[in-house]
Amino acid sequence: MYLESLDLTDFRNYEALRLSLGAGRFIVAGDNAQGKSNLCEAIRMLATMRSFRAGTDRELVRWGSAGHFARIASDIARVDGTLRLEIIISAPPSAEDPLASAAGLWAGEQGSRDEVGGMGAGLPPMPPAPPSRVAAGKRIKVNGAARRAIDCVGLVTVVLFEPADLDLVIGSPSGRRHFMDVTLCQISRSYCRALSHYQRVLTQRSALLRRIRDNQDDPRALDYWDGQLAALAVPIIIERAGLVTRCMPTADQVALKLGGRGLRLEYQPSYAVDAELPPATAVAAFTEKLASLRRREIAQGVNLLGPHRDDLAFMEGPVNLAVYGSRGQQRGAALALKLAELEAIEIETGDQPILVLDDVLSELDPTRRAALLESVGEISQVILTTAEPESIPRAFAASARWLNVRDGEIG
Ligand SMILES: Nc1ncnc2c1ncn2[C@@H]1O[C@H](COP(=O)(O)OP(=O)(O)OP(=O)(O)O)[C@@H](O)[C@H]1O
Ligand SMILES: [Mg+2]
Repeated sequence: MYLESLDLTDFRNYEALRLSLGAGRFIVAGDNAQGKSNLCEAIRMLATMRSFRAGTDRELVRWGSAGHFARIASDIARVDGTLRLEIIISAPPSAEDPLASAAGLWAGEQGSRDEVGGMGAGLPPMPPAPPSRVAAGKRIKVNGAARRAIDCVGLVTVVLFEPADLDLVIGSPSGRRHFMDVTLCQISRSYCRALSHYQRVLTQRSALLRRIRDNQDDPRALDYWDGQLAALAVPIIIERAGLVTRCMPTADQVALKLGGRGLRLEYQPSYAVDAELPPATAVAAFTEKLASLRRREIAQGVNLLGPHRDDLAFMEGPVNLAVYGSRGQQRGAALALKLAELEAIEIETGDQPILVLDDVLSELDPTRRAALLESVGEISQVILTTAEPESIPRAFAASARWLNVRDGEIG
């Protein structure tokens, strides 16, 4: 698939961008702080319905914008036809807005009225989003008709590769879980719904555990929540295990091409589900395990078991790359995983995701840079940003359309 057009209104530092795109390769070149990552963020939002870097949607609205809303609109060519997707984010001015007329203007207002807030706003945030101090809302339209955000995740599929992804192997487990979730949500709406529901159950259940610990509630109330948790956790674990298995051959191939001894991805769930078991039996076994942990969970006031504690390991033979890998090996493994993600999404959805490479080439050594660009040869749309145009290999540079970004304008 590919974006035919991308229009941004008051999104980050873009006041009014009208960009005509199409299949092929695009290089967005510009100095630091001109709007390269903002553009990638907007494209990624078309896939996930929420920003990968903003704590609150309000950050997305251009400072000092008169209407206090941001809009992303795009015509997308998919294998099954073209669709128009629009995301409208509204947010009143706040004290955080450097151009707000009066500091603290809205500070008296409590809480968020985000109509599709939390998980309903698309994918879960990697770090928990800080509570919004002022009202904000997000509306989504598909071909002009209003839709819920969660129903629109994955209408566009995007694989984003940015410098922070290079730390996937050595970063925190939450980053690796986020990788699995972002990929699976784009592939499967039922996964996205289960995950959204699961996160709400986790919140409710941990509050209950703390109330029980403080003698403010009855431990028997946990029976209901254990059942809910288990019923949602089991399919999430099975889907994640399946994704990791599907990513393995490509990841292994890429790692071999990079001169390593291959790569084995090891899904490490906090509770391993036997995929052979009938679902009801697997859920019952999970619930039983929860019962055995009950005393500890109450004492700690924390959900100790479930997909929110999973991890993913990168192994070269018996060697765990997070512990023993060189920096180059770790970055190579992250790159291999990204390329495997691209293929997994394509196989599962029957359509090629858009590949967005945000300033990542200059971070890779020549071998890995070449491997990446060679692998993207067949992708229908690649959007690559750079602050160092000279770092782009000549053949790729010649085959791409160049767009220059400067202060929120693209020429
Ligand atoms: N809500 C907003 N309104 C206006 N400007 C914003 C908003 N949010 C961020 N910006 C500004 O947008 C500018 C461009 O940011 P962006 O992250 O896209 O830069 P970049 O081109 O990727 O730079 P780098 O090469 O350093 O990564 C920054 O100066 C940032 O402060
Ligand atoms: Mg950037």
